[in-house]
Amino acid sequence: MISEGPIKFEKNTVISVFGASGDLAKKKTFPALFGLFREGYLDPSTKIFGYARSKLSMDDLKSRVLPHLKKLHGEADDVKIEQFFKMIDYIAGNYDTDEGFDELRTQIERFEKRAQVDVPHRLFYLALPPSVFLTVAKQIKSRVYAQNGITRVIVEKPFGHDLASANELQENLGPLFKEEELFRIDHYLGKELVKNLLVLRFGNQFLNAPWNRDNIQSVQISFKERFGTEGRGGYFDSIGIIRDVMQNHLLQILTLLTMERPVSFDPESIRDEKVKVLKAVAPIDTDDVLLGQYGKSEDGSKPAYVDDDTVEKDSKCVTFAAMTFNIENERWEGVPIMMRAGKALNESKVEIRLQYKAVASGVFKDIPNNELVIRVQPDAAVYLKFNAKTPGLSNATQVTDLNLTYASRYQDFWIPEAYEVLIRDALLGDHSNFVRDDELEISWGLFTPLLKHIERPDGPTPEIYPYGSRGPKGLKEYMQKHKYVMPEKHPYAWPVTKPKPDAKKDK
Ligand code: BG6
Repeated sequence: MISEGPIKFEKNTVISVFGASGDLAKKKTFPALFGLFREGYLDPSTKIFGYARSKLSMDDLKSRVLPHLKKLHGEADDVKIEQFFKMIDYIAGNYDTDEGFDELRTQIERFEKRAQVDVPHRLFYLALPPSVFLTVAKQIKSRVYAQNGITRVIVEKPFGHDLASANELQENLGPLFKEEELFRIDHYLGKELVKNLLVLRFGNQFLNAPWNRDNIQSVQISFKERFGTEGRGGYFDSIGIIRDVMQNHLLQILTLLTMERPVSFDPESIRDEKVKVLKAVAPIDTDDVLLGQYGKSEDGSKPAYVDDDTVEKDSKCVTFAAMTFNIENERWEGVPIMMRAGKALNESKVEIRLQYKAVASGVFKDIPNNELVIRVQPDAAVYLKFNAKTPGLSNATQVTDLNLTYASRYQDFWIPEAYEVLIRDALLGDHSNFVRDDELEISWGLFTPLLKHIERPDGPTPEIYPYGSRGPKGLKEYMQKHKYVMPEKHPYAWPVTKPKPDAKKDK
């Protein structure tokens, strides 16, 4: 078991949420703070300030946030909700002038004085667009930084737009905050199954031993969403799916999946190994990517990406991409690691799929390759597809599974939301699940040439795929080209709960 250490409740912490009137704060930050409070992981002595430009009353803020708070314990949670809102005060202020920040400082100091705080602990959460990000960071440093205490700053993506802008951002942030004061959120690192990757890999010899090029034929990391960019087109157009989820969320998964065993589970040991494997990733072959953009659904009921009013009709924005990574080290060289992500597809699902090499032929004809599937969402699960004799008199083989489905195995567990996990980690000063500056630089270094290639004026035109489909037509061929053996001849549906009708006949 990994040592959990004592649970530390920080008393009289001050949490300031910038961008408090925005979408992220209302849907993720405040609900996560409430979730922690509801479960007893945020001390009632905590003071929360919401800060934004909009002139809102506390009631306005409450009515925005309330619909997003999760109740897990019936009426008892109503009491908690009321207590939670009493912990919050809202300050309306500009980001680029001092008055609002001076007001925030006055209120923080008044709170800390009343609570007789010796060593202030201040957490600042920047739920802000990039345009005001640095302005606020500077104001924090000059006006509300805890001079004789602990300051922690949580920042949200985008961390730059490419390598140059990410470096520039870092150069500007560097003089303001020490690396240990910064917590760069990638919320995928707070997801239960992503957090479980290192334990699954290194805590199980039967998985750990064959986790290499001798046994694994291909790896796929897939992100699928059923919905398009509805209402977010204007924002998405300059971002595209590669910056939105691949350079960050999926690359983090790839890193945890392929890194070497860290010497310990302390944050720096983990992040050192992550950086090491990222340095071994070969440049992405820009001619070997599959790019798509969704068009109308086949029945015409769902809009094409370019039907969004905020998007140019000739936009070449990529809403689907598939690419392949090669890691040039002893463990992975030659194993294609495919990453694919798309909006407006046939289902919403995030999963990791390792396909093992085929067993020797001879006694078997066409026996399918084993697969280990780690399903991040929905319905968190880990299952291993393997071959067994069909029960009964038949000697035919069939695909079956070892199946760890969280909903049935862990019914009584509270599985926190990603943001709950990460805010708590930041409160405790644990950086394990946050992105370090050097990780960021390498990841942008990997993706920037591809982004430049795609975004040149004469860059490739993405293939149009119907809203609600599996993606561009060439996907299957692309996967096969990268050694994925289609399991078509061996029908298998997960989860399998009933015997097939013909299996019964054998009895
Ligand atoms: C965000 C992206 O970072 O992640 C969104 O900006 C995407 O476009 C979201 O939908 C996916 O997160 P989750 O937790 O819903 O899988």
